[in-house]
Amino acid sequence: MPNPTQSQPTIASPRLLITAGPTHEPIDAVRYLGNRSSGTLGIAVAEAAASRGWRVTLLLGPTAREPSHPSVSLKRFQTTADLQALLAAEWPGHDALVMAAAVADYRPKVSAPAGEKLRRTEAGLAIELESTPDLLAGCSAARRAGQLLVGFALEPTDRLEASARAKLARKGIDLIVANPLETMESATISARLFHRDGAEESAPTGMTKEAFADWLLDRVATAIEKTGTGHRAPGTSGAIKR
Ligand code: CTP
Repeated sequence: MPNPTQSQPTIASPRLLITAGPTHEPIDAVRYLGNRSSGTLGIAVAEAAASRGWRVTLLLGPTAREPSHPSVSLKRFQTTADLQALLAAEWPGHDALVMAAAVADYRPKVSAPAGEKLRRTEAGLAIELESTPDLLAGCSAARRAGQLLVGFALEPTDRLEASARAKLARKGIDLIVANPLETMESATISARLFHRDGAEESAPTGMTKEAFADWLLDRVATAIEKTGTGHRAPGTSGAIKR
């Protein structure tokens, strides 16, 4: 349980924007396309950052979990479009973005009119999907000097490094946390962190998501200090392997 008295935010504390949880893309009034993300990891990062005295905004998708730290500013979204609008409003006012949300890659091109439910027929149903915008790449394109972006990648173990590095470059971000596919349903995490400059670090295997959140924030703190925003980001331990 985080201790809210541990460290109080000040004007010099970093402003961290975190996204977490799934998106739900409506098909009709009662059905949606979603995914199994619980938001646990992003919530843990929000709690850990708030406990360090950072100023934290958490954009959280449709999940039953919520942060308990009183200083986390919480805003909820349902769809990719909702999250896109929240990011447009919030990103300019933050120093770093941790994009842990499991954003849909596709959504129904057309959903049923508001309040209507599709009826069952014997003919079956084809739903046309359209691609969603890449929100992280959009935030990267809109970044001002000094802002830091951290992405996540859930990958099959055999392609983990190649896929994560390709995403880091394609999205124009600073750090990417790569997890094996099994992480989504697991209480623990065995992640690797790839840096834009080619550096790589492996987190100790089998960490709880809470312990991993602190491990990651140590690295984010170091990276924020390097970007020279003038913010004091305490907690910089761990050597980087190059
Ligand atoms: N992401 C995003 N917008 C999307 C899809 C993903 O901002 N429409 C973000 C995720 O929040 C994550 C990162 O991009 O931080 C990587 O997500 P992932 O689904 O692994 O990558 P994709 O670009 O969707 O590539 P693919 O599905 O081919 O693996």
